[in-house]
Amino acid sequence: MSKILFSSISKKFVMALAGLFLITFLPVHLGINLLLLKSDPRPFNTAAHFMATFPVVRIIEIVLIAAIVIHIAWGIFLQIQNWIARPVGYVSGSKSETSFFSRFMIWTGATIFIFLILHFFNFYFVKLGLVKGNPEDFYSMAHSLFSIPQYDFIYLFCFAVLGFHLYHAFSSAFQTLGLNHRIWTPVVKVVALIYSIVIPLSFATIPIILWLFR
Ligand code: HEM
Repeated sequence: MSKILFSSISKKFVMALAGLFLITFLPVHLGINLLLLKSDPRPFNTAAHFMATFPVVRIIEIVLIAAIVIHIAWGIFLQIQNWIARPVGYVSGSKSETSFFSRFMIWTGATIFIFLILHFFNFYFVKLGLVKGNPEDFYSMAHSLFSIPQYDFIYLFCFAVLGFHLYHAFSSAFQTLGLNHRIWTPVVKVVALIYSIVIPLSFATIPIILWLFR
């Protein structure tokens, strides 16, 4: 198992698998968070309580955190390898649309990483008891957080960056896994485009509505 994880060829493969797992996490996370827009705090707090206590979800959460760590660690490692091998660019050849997005992956990824640290201080570390707050009432915590314009701007900026990261990540993960196909690859690209616009935009509705209309 450790050989698979650490061999140079499979690093990108494991990174792509972890990335696809994170891609499936986001719609679930979004679905629960959209309950924050209801005026009744109970649906959101009940869902958050379920996610925090149901044993299967707890196991998935451990896999999720492991996927985040592996994805980031291998991403940094592969990027450094690339810089050493090819100091000027990330992808050789023509300045295609793919190379344009892939050149920024390390920076959009780094921004999301910084966002996650902030985000964990806002919520997740509260659940772990590392930061003060009431994990049974994330609803009120989110509402007071998004009443602060500075936080709204940071979150909205990070959602935009997330969109750019997801657009390239989505199709690139399929390519890395060897799932190239004359018909399906263009379909994956369209799905990637829709996903990378719809998910960040839907997340963005939360701070915007809580900030301006609540
Ligand atoms: C307005 C948008 C968002 C809100 C209101 C929000 C809210 C929350 C809350 C309340 C938690 C802790 C609750 C719990 O653990 O069950 C949490 C955890 C987490 N969030 Fe978010 N989140 C948002 C966007 C995002 C985005 C865009 C990402 C990824 C880039 C993300 C990644 C995570 C992760 C990895 C965790 C820890 C795992 C988990 O507890 O499920 N969140 N978020």
